[in-house]
Amino acid sequence: MQKPFLVIPTQVLEINQKYEGKAKIVERISEDLVRITYKDDLTAFDGVKKDQKQGKGMINLKISNLIYDFLKNKGIPTHFVKQENEKQIIAKYVKILPIEFVVRNIAAGSFVRRYGIEKGLKFDQPIFELFLKSDELHDPLITPDVAIKLGLIDKETFEKTRFYTLVINHYLKELFGRIGFDLVDFKLEFGIDNQGNILLADEITPDSIRLWLKGTQESFDKDVFREDKGDVLAAYKEVLRRLENIEIEKIKDPDFKITLNVRLKSGIVDAQGAVVKRALKRLGLDTIKDARIGKIIDLEFNGGNINDVLEKLDHAIEEFLINPLIENYEINFY
Ligand code: TMP
Ligand code: ASP
Repeated sequence: MQKPFLVIPTQVLEINQKYEGKAKIVERISEDLVRITYKDDLTAFDGVKKDQKQGKGMINLKISNLIYDFLKNKGIPTHFVKQENEKQIIAKYVKILPIEFVVRNIAAGSFVRRYGIEKGLKFDQPIFELFLKSDELHDPLITPDVAIKLGLIDKETFEKTRFYTLVINHYLKELFGRIGFDLVDFKLEFGIDNQGNILLADEITPDSIRLWLKGTQESFDKDVFREDKGDVLAAYKEVLRRLENIEIEKIKDPDFKITLNVRLKSGIVDAQGAVVKRALKRLGLDTIKDARIGKIIDLEFNGGNINDVLEKLDHAIEEFLINPLIENYEINFY
């Protein structure tokens, strides 16, 4: 099937090849690594509005590194390897998924325009949205069903990335709350490295987050530029200043739940299913064709390092939670 995007440059980056995006330059420097340069450019509305602010790249690099460091300590796997200088970092080479993962805690931006609701409405639960990464198509909203059926992401990767995104929302809401901001919404990108790991990639900066001064709608993010609301660099600097002065150890881990749906593989004889099938037939369900019985494993965790839990769980699944010779499973995260 034809994919609904043209070219996703970072997916086809060869060694020594360079890709220049709107805010960054990505060079593949080896099989496993890229060098990312933060530019001073600011763009909005798919690049229609443009400007340059000297020092913006440096500030964003610092903000992104602080946030990545914090998330790494919390067990979120990321592409970050090391900082090279004040404008460049080294990161793992990943194939970027052609999807943007957006979480909203408060209504703003395209959500307000799309659904005609009041800006500033607070949601009881975070809202999770996917957008197709395509400037040509203006990054349209895409449903998980469409993204999976078009082969842009597989179901398990979708479940994991959605889970990571919501966990990151939990942490970032706490982090920014402590420095006096309401986290309105933000966008994440994920990629797959050469070993098949799902890694958080791209930047997390005021270019990709909406932050309002607590209890107000005063922007400290790219909306200052999008909507000509004042000194955008001063806003970014203030975010950095506050991030540099915070004790992140006090931020509590979220509780979470993992569910495994286990099924017998097709072709494996299901004795229990056969009994159920006969019983249903006796009850008059003449058209019953087949019955197969599986199991659900619900696991609840009181916080904990997410990466650690997932790694150990992978072992447990293979070792004793399922029988990989005769069973398949689907995994869901909440
Ligand atoms: P939206 O309200 O325009 O859909 O944006 C939601 C969040 O995603 C907001 O924090 C800004 C961020 N974002 C990006 O990082 N890149 C983009 O291309 C767009 C459209 C939004
Ligand atoms: N990131 C997009 C651009 O730079 C859209 C936006 O942020 O408004 O054009």
